[in-house]
Amino acid sequence: MRTARAIAAAAAAGLALAASVATGEQKDSTAQEIEKYRAALAEDNPAELWEARGEALWKEKRGPKHVSLEACDLGLGPGVVKGAYAAMPRYFEDTGKVEDLESRLVTCMVALQGFTPEQAKKNPFAGPGQKVPMDALVAYVSSESRGIPVHVSLAHPKEREAYEMGKKIFFYRGATHDFGCVTCHGANDKRIRLQDLPNLTDPAQARKAYTSWPAYRVSQGEVRSMQWRLNDCFRQQRFPELEFVSPASIALSMYLAKTAEGGVMSAPAVKR
Ligand code: HEC
Repeated sequence: MRTARAIAAAAAAGLALAASVATGEQKDSTAQEIEKYRAALAEDNPAELWEARGEALWKEKRGPKHVSLEACDLGLGPGVVKGAYAAMPRYFEDTGKVEDLESRLVTCMVALQGFTPEQAKKNPFAGPGQKVPMDALVAYVSSESRGIPVHVSLAHPKEREAYEMGKKIFFYRGATHDFGCVTCHGANDKRIRLQDLPNLTDPAQARKAYTSWPAYRVSQGEVRSMQWRLNDCFRQQRFPELEFVSPASIALSMYLAKTAEGGVMSAPAVKR
């Protein structure tokens, strides 16, 4: 199986990676090993399995109302998945809110399938190896935007408001360490625990980072969503837990997406 081969190749690269960390070689050689590791996995991206599972889930009759998500409007009309992710977050008239993909899926699971909001939002920040339907769904929907440039509208006042709020949150520093997103992602060539930190205020770097999420996280053995990524960074920032699909989380995505405008979607990519 293609994926089994990819995992074997990645495991070999991973061993090389572990060895170079263990012997304490310079950071640069470790960074090279991380690149090799990514390349080995990217050839046969394990995320394909989540994409297939997500597509099946999208079409499956589920929930108390026993209907599929095929009538869900992701912004381009009911049931249109192709290209929808590249134009999110966006304003939705039916809810009167700016929604990202995850919050829109919650909206559809509640409105169409009859789930309660609690059921639809269950376990969004799962740990290693834990499977959640949301992650398969985001893998499928985002994969249908591969090759399509990010184009996020700021035409609606609520879209502009979300963008401005996201920008404010990005630069806001606080909590025990006086960290903000900007502390780790506001300058070039920063590193933490051997990870290169993208400068997300720079459009070129923001494009590369934003377009690769959702992503298959090797360390999780799972595809994870952008909401998951943001929550993990809130934790690194020593902030209180980011509430799943909260206006703050969507606003942050709006700021990141707009900064990445024009970048070509490659998600779900492969990450450490
Ligand atoms: C203490 C440092 C730190 C802070 C503060 C921080 N991050 Fe991160 N961020 C990281 C690290 C480390 C990674 C890479 C994680 C990895 O690959 O394991 C990362 C990765 C990311 C990525 C994915 C980049 C990519 O190319 O895959 C995004 C997007 C991101 N952070 C956004 C944010 C936002 C938005 C905030 C503010 C809410 C934030 N981060 C705050 C450390 C931080």
